[in-house]
Amino acid sequence: MLKGKDVILAPLKREYIDKFLEWLNDPEVTQHLMRFRPLTREMEEDWFDSLKDREGDIIFAILINQNQLIGNCSIMNILWNDRVGTCGIFIGDKKEQGKGYGTEAMKLLLEYGFNTLNLNRIDLKVNDFNSRAIRCYQKIGFIEEGRMRQSCFRNGEYHDQLIMSILHSEWKGMNP
Ligand SMILES: CC(C)(COP(=O)(O)OP(=O)(O)OC[C@H]1O[C@@H](n2cnc3c(N)ncnc32)[C@H](O)[C@@H]1OP(=O)(O)O)[C@@H](O)C(=O)NCCC(=O)NCCS
Repeated sequence: MLKGKDVILAPLKREYIDKFLEWLNDPEVTQHLMRFRPLTREMEEDWFDSLKDREGDIIFAILINQNQLIGNCSIMNILWNDRVGTCGIFIGDKKEQGKGYGTEAMKLLLEYGFNTLNLNRIDLKVNDFNSRAIRCYQKIGFIEEGRMRQSCFRNGEYHDQLIMSILHSEWKGMNP
């Protein structure tokens, strides 16, 4: 368990599946994610069961007030030889968005990625219209390093996606 001021990153539990199902079937949330298929309980349970065998994917539940689930965050596709991973986050509980929890969760995730997993680079992809997420990542120190033109289709239109990353040396400079 990783504890911050207001946020805890905790292991996932099967009992969280109900909430994830609700959030990951909400178009307001999924327009920002890579998901578009309706998600069934069976699919979510299969995904949960598969986690124990996926050494390159690490996923945390995001909790506030000790045990209130608000979303999840992850470092996925870790390449242990290159020391690179790709992160993702969603605060599914919409009334808890915009309160600083996403930023705190990402900071805890980066600290874990750099200081425990010994990664050298953590990157992510974000839709260019997702201003809140971009602001959150910029605050933490992610740098925009590329733009994938018209790489996603949302709400009837093509959008660019930004590739952002942060290196261990940059993070250390900001968190001595
Ligand atoms: C993106 C997300 C993780 C951010 O977490 P959060 O807790 O909502 O955001 P925070 O409160 O920590 O920080 C948001 C920052 O963006 C700013 N912000 C909010 N709405 C904004 C907007 N429409 N445009 C620009 N900035 C905005 C806030 O003011 C804050 O910056 P500040 O601290 O300088 O004032 C969360 O909103 C979320 O999960 N959204 C839905 C799924 C998603 O987008 N996931 C990311 C996919 S790449």
